[in-house]
Amino acid sequence: MVDPTNRNDPFWYRTAVFYAVYVRTFADANGDGIGDFRGLTAKLDYLSWFGVDCIWVLPMYPSPLKDGGYDIADYCDILPAYGTLSDFTEFLRESHDRGIRVITDLVINHTSDQHPWFQESRSSPTSPKRDWYVWRDTDTGYSDVRIIFTDSEPSNWTWDDTAKQYFWHRFYRHQPDLNFDNPEVQQAILDVASFWADLGVDGFRVDAAPYLVEREGTTCDNLPETHAVLKRLRAHLDARHPGTILLAEANLWPEQLVDYFGQGDEFQLAYHFPIMPRMYLALHEQNARSLIDMLRRTPDIPPNCQWGVFLRNHDELTLEMVTEAERAAMYEAFAPVPRLRVNVGIRRRLAPLLQGDRRKIELLHGLLLSLPGSPFLYYGDEIGMGDLPFLNDRDAVRTPMQWSPDRNGGFSRAERDRLTLPVIEDPQYGYPHVNVEDQQRQESSLLQALRWLLTVRHRHPLFGLGSLDLVDVDQPAVLAYLRRHDGATALGVFNLSAHSQSIHLDLMPYIGISPVDLVGGAVLDRIDTAPYTLVLAPYGFYWLGLG
Ligand code: GLC
Ligand code: CA
Repeated sequence: MVDPTNRNDPFWYRTAVFYAVYVRTFADANGDGIGDFRGLTAKLDYLSWFGVDCIWVLPMYPSPLKDGGYDIADYCDILPAYGTLSDFTEFLRESHDRGIRVITDLVINHTSDQHPWFQESRSSPTSPKRDWYVWRDTDTGYSDVRIIFTDSEPSNWTWDDTAKQYFWHRFYRHQPDLNFDNPEVQQAILDVASFWADLGVDGFRVDAAPYLVEREGTTCDNLPETHAVLKRLRAHLDARHPGTILLAEANLWPEQLVDYFGQGDEFQLAYHFPIMPRMYLALHEQNARSLIDMLRRTPDIPPNCQWGVFLRNHDELTLEMVTEAERAAMYEAFAPVPRLRVNVGIRRRLAPLLQGDRRKIELLHGLLLSLPGSPFLYYGDEIGMGDLPFLNDRDAVRTPMQWSPDRNGGFSRAERDRLTLPVIEDPQYGYPHVNVEDQQRQESSLLQALRWLLTVRHRHPLFGLGSLDLVDVDQPAVLAYLRRHDGATALGVFNLSAHSQSIHLDLMPYIGISPVDLVGGAVLDRIDTAPYTLVLAPYGFYWLGLG
């Protein structure tokens, strides 16, 4: 159960566990083969049992679904297949009743080309909405801007036969960018945020945050003008909907990322993109080096802010924030065949990335849940779901949630060929073997192990609020750090290698204390003047309470 005292905490997001849901493939209540809000609502007891504090709902708006719903055709409604607005508000109410908050995706950089704004904009040069998008007579502008969807888009400009001009798009060509230099566009987006905040949504993940404004002669990333728009959105929410949080999706190095917190007046949360691939890299290299470098490189953030940390999400495992050599090593290790790659990343789920190795999956969660930041979990990873690499684009990692060994994994009672995406049936990851129902029954399941980690984390606010201090270790395969808050201290120790490790730590400031294994419960030997010896199993880890 979620700690009810958390309900009135204005900084709840600093200790919260987030859980991403793709409504389309989570749970289908009406049996048409497509997930829906009534299905999701029926699973809230499960999410509450598991320990989720906040659900992040991937885009649920009317959309042609050419980009998983990140191509929005109407900002103020629900995709009919997912239900109605009243199904959505019912879901919100039921979530809040359980102490679970809800954030949604605010995709404002672009719309679908099916959005009426774009239809109107393209219809005539004199349309009042012409200037709502970025139109040019040539495709030569902003030539310093990189392409994000490298696999499918040769240019950020596409010719529109109706408009007889080129339009600007940072993503797919069916996703024209809104023109944030136009004050009407800015106002329209504030109105959209208000619409959902008025319904009771607790916050927004701002998709593609760095790309809002364009300026010639720049990369068009992270422009001061873009930060100004984002600060305006925050000021609007603070004034009209106090407590509504903003989370930045900005795939950047830490030095640029911290700008998105502003002086505590822009985003409350931002994903820490660079730390993510390094958790995998460290495992692959059996060496903590790259993680230590990145933790050292991560600047302090304003006290009302928090990092969002994650292992996987609905996109490819992006390799933009590693060096070229590291990228090559990671492709080789985790995606040896082209089918597993997309754009600059890997389209695989957590469990297959880790060869289905329980020890590695738990180790990475041990890291994730104790690093500075609020953890973002991706639906299905808690039971070790697999992926379907033959599916198009990132659908590979968006297959239906596996609830039970029943037909369609309990996702839907529709005929199999009517499912919006196929369920996984292979011997290793298929729903007959990997599903919630079985893992809830088995004490020793991955689901139960992760649920226990969430429980332990909830008991110790220092994991969300504490400072971080790296501890020197005499074995390069082991990472160790102290988290401290309000007089409490925990020591995290992680063995990234396939071999057991005996390590020695200097814990002089803690002499006289007997560390407590916060996960297993055992009391360990007292710390004295000599270096403290710990033995770690292959891929083993400890969260040790030091008082
Ligand atoms: C974000 C989303 C991704 C989407 C893109 C374009 O990166 O996470 O799924 O394709 O924005 O909206
Ligand atoms: Ca349905």
